[in-house]
Amino acid sequence: MRPVLPLHVPPPRPELADEFTDGECYPEALVECFLAEYTRPGDVVFDPFAGSGTTLVVAERMGRRPLGLEIDPDRVDFVAGRLADPTAIRLGDARRLDEYGLPPVDFVMTSPPYMTRLNHPENPLTGYATRDGDYERYLEELTDIFRRLGRHLTAKARVVVNVANLTYNDTVTPLAFDVARSLSTVLRFEREIVLDWDRTIDWITNDYCLVFSTIPAGAR
Ligand SMILES: C[S@@+](CC[C@H](N)C(=O)[O-])C[C@H]1O[C@@H](n2cnc3c(N)ncnc32)[C@H](O)[C@@H]1O
Repeated sequence: MRPVLPLHVPPPRPELADEFTDGECYPEALVECFLAEYTRPGDVVFDPFAGSGTTLVVAERMGRRPLGLEIDPDRVDFVAGRLADPTAIRLGDARRLDEYGLPPVDFVMTSPPYMTRLNHPENPLTGYATRDGDYERYLEELTDIFRRLGRHLTAKARVVVNVANLTYNDTVTPLAFDVARSLSTVLRFEREIVLDWDRTIDWITNDYCLVFSTIPAGAR
């Protein structure tokens, strides 16, 4: 895969509920690209932060076995309605990943809920439902989710995390770099792909897909 991926910002899609997709949804073409590169038909494709279900919908269409968690019940209903197998999306909290009886996972593609370092009292990992947000704890909890996820991965599995560096009030939160550094303690960082959007997105400085693989048991 090329290190820089040219992408079109997709036009709004009326079949996707606005409140679930504005600024949060990556294009299906991006998922297609990674699934073609890293998976085969029949592989289990997991998204712990399913959102509007882009990863799962594309995985199902490409003959992979989708599985997702999502903390927001309305989004779960929405995603279930987009899938031929509505049981592929489960209401759940990724922080309690171990409780859902996951099968061996061959591939993960996800985008976590974002957080800026400053002026962000809402907690992303409660779906912004509580105001106990703390940037360092958020990174720790996110890392713990991927540590747990690592136990469910097959040996060949890749984990692709879409994350951007964020601008807010003239301050940049290097979220993508912080996530790369932090997740590298529990997964093996392979590379970053730069997403080259065809128009400026004013709340990010750059957007990435970070690619990880499992750390072999002997090297942990
Ligand atoms: C950035 S969106 C994912 C967007 C998705 N990639 C798409 O294309 O639609 C992040 C999602 O994570 C969900 N979420 C937040 N905290 C969660 C948690 N602890 N467990 C599971 N899902 C969570 C949010 O409700 C939100 O739908």
